[in-house]
Amino acid sequence: MLFEVKDVFYTRMRGTPFAVEALRGCSLAIPEGEITAIVGPTQAGKSTLLLMLLGLLRPSRGTVLFRGQDIHQAPFDVERLRLRVGIVFQSPEAQLFEETVGKDVSFGPRRKKLPAAQSRRLVQEALEAVGLPYEEFRTRYISSLSGGQKRRVAIAGVLALEPEAILFDEPTAGLDPQGRQELLALIRRLKAERRLTIVLTSSSLADVAALADQVIVLHEGRVVLNGSPREVLARAEELLALDITLPEITRIALGLRSLWPALRCDVLTLAELEEELARFLPRTTSQEPQPSFPDACQ
Ligand SMILES: Nc1ncnc2c1ncn2[C@@H]1O[C@H](COP(=O)(O)OP(=O)(O)OP(=O)(O)O)[C@@H](O)[C@H]1O
Ligand SMILES: [Mg+2]
Repeated sequence: MLFEVKDVFYTRMRGTPFAVEALRGCSLAIPEGEITAIVGPTQAGKSTLLLMLLGLLRPSRGTVLFRGQDIHQAPFDVERLRLRVGIVFQSPEAQLFEETVGKDVSFGPRRKKLPAAQSRRLVQEALEAVGLPYEEFRTRYISSLSGGQKRRVAIAGVLALEPEAILFDEPTAGLDPQGRQELLALIRRLKAERRLTIVLTSSSLADVAALADQVIVLHEGRVVLNGSPREVLARAEELLALDITLPEITRIALGLRSLWPALRCDVLTLAELEEELARFLPRTTSQEPQPSFPDACQ
């Protein structure tokens, strides 16, 4: 396992009248080389959990392990962890500091004191990987970019550190449908081509059901469901009660359950739904006379 979170509690604004228990006995494991989606409604503790994985917050109880080592116990070097595991925040503005794209993406390699030629190669590769051609974008001002492009620059900045894993906090929030699909395709490519471990958060299963290897459903700081997308979608009614957006195909399957209560709703594609429906609809064979429309309507 890359990460293990064991019975972690965390109180935000501890010791003040505004104290909130953001994590309450949260346990989960993140396997290497896979895409894990942390799904939950607003305030479930998703962002808190990502900060916890990077050691940016310290649990008030429980442990966080990276490859079996407690990240808050010496001799573990939490600073090095942050060079090996990158994070992309929900609002890219939060992590873009420099004036130009090239300067921003080269921030990590410069911090690592890499030779100029190697740094340039990493920046170029990172920008190309997110679909921003190097020569065209390296001198562009960050302020002149669209929201989607800024998000890509933030991802390139993380890639230039050559991380083993990337944590994405709500990567598709605020993007239009095309931007969402492009970003999900990019995440899928990062896993396939760079063999990265990916953790992403979302309040919607619609975006991540087709992408994730593992889905962890978080509610009020605890894991309430955990499994493959199909295993989690099989509990669609519970997900709806938690205010989690479901894939359209699951919503259709759920609606059809009023007609056929035994219909499965853990379908991921239209073809699967059709196959499932075929179990319930009467079959007509070519030998049987087909009713003509006027007959069928009478
Ligand atoms: N900066 C903060 N100061 C105090 N409390 C906070 C802060 N950020 C979050 N919280 C509280 O911690 C709890 C968990 O919040 P968190 O942001 O981790 O949830 P989330 O699942 O990421 O929600 P969202 O979907 O809205 O981003 C919530 O009760 C929230 O009110
Ligand atoms: Mg959040």
